[in-house]
Amino acid sequence: MEPAPSHAGPPPPPTHVAIIMDGNGRWAKARGLPRTAGHKRGAEAVRRTVEAAREMGVSYLTLYGFSSENWKRPAGEVSDLMGLLRLYLRSEVAALHKNGIRLKVIGDRNRLGADIVRLIDEAEAKTAANVALTLVLALSYGGRQEMVEATRRIAADVAAGRLAPDAIDEGVVAGHLFTAGIPDPDLIIRTSGEQRISNFLLWQGAYAELVFMETLWPEFGRAELENAIRDYHGRDRRYGATK
Ligand code: IPE
Ligand code: IPE
Ligand code: MG
Repeated sequence: MEPAPSHAGPPPPPTHVAIIMDGNGRWAKARGLPRTAGHKRGAEAVRRTVEAAREMGVSYLTLYGFSSENWKRPAGEVSDLMGLLRLYLRSEVAALHKNGIRLKVIGDRNRLGADIVRLIDEAEAKTAANVALTLVLALSYGGRQEMVEATRRIAADVAAGRLAPDAIDEGVVAGHLFTAGIPDPDLIIRTSGEQRISNFLLWQGAYAELVFMETLWPEFGRAELENAIRDYHGRDRRYGATK
């Protein structure tokens, strides 16, 4: 490929960056602290990353905060995480709104506490018209569960005679996912050295570029986001075609 002409300026950032925020527990353990201390520091990394993404001109930032499978953790850790989520929603939404950020939550809300669901509903309504950045929080989220739920709703439409089986195409499936209307992620980052997807955006991430880094989530910030985006810009996205 020919180098881009120098007057072109820096390449635009990926439209949609998604992050598997991993390593809070190991960060705490390495310091002899309880896991909760890692989650608390993780919430600060969320703040930094949201701010950096907005300033860099990213349009969608999806953060994997709690998976369907994380409900298997000890009750004490789950309630600490829910407490932090409550705190985040109570204390950050005003700042998100002020900065023009729209909040959207994807995942199974039925398993979240009623007060948390109310905070989410309020935050989504308050920030619905904002356009600077869409922050998507994946909470109680699993890609397989999302596809099962979508399948059920599509099947119900077919059973009710509203949809012909032959009319089911990729657009119909995508339109029944939690992420309907949100473009697929261009870049998926995972911190903490683990190299797996852990049930995150299984459908949507079909052609995402993957960047794995050793940094533990509590240490993540602007520089790490910039590094991952630099890696991304070095990739050649072919989508199965020749070039
Ligand atoms: C990520 O950190 C946060 C959540 C999954 C909620 P972990 O809690 O998974 O930290 P490690 O992987 O044990 O270090
Ligand atoms: C993935 O991290 C989920 C989130 C970051 C919210 P986990 O720590 O739960 O994933 P595994 O268990 O290592 O695959
Ligand atoms: Mg983990």
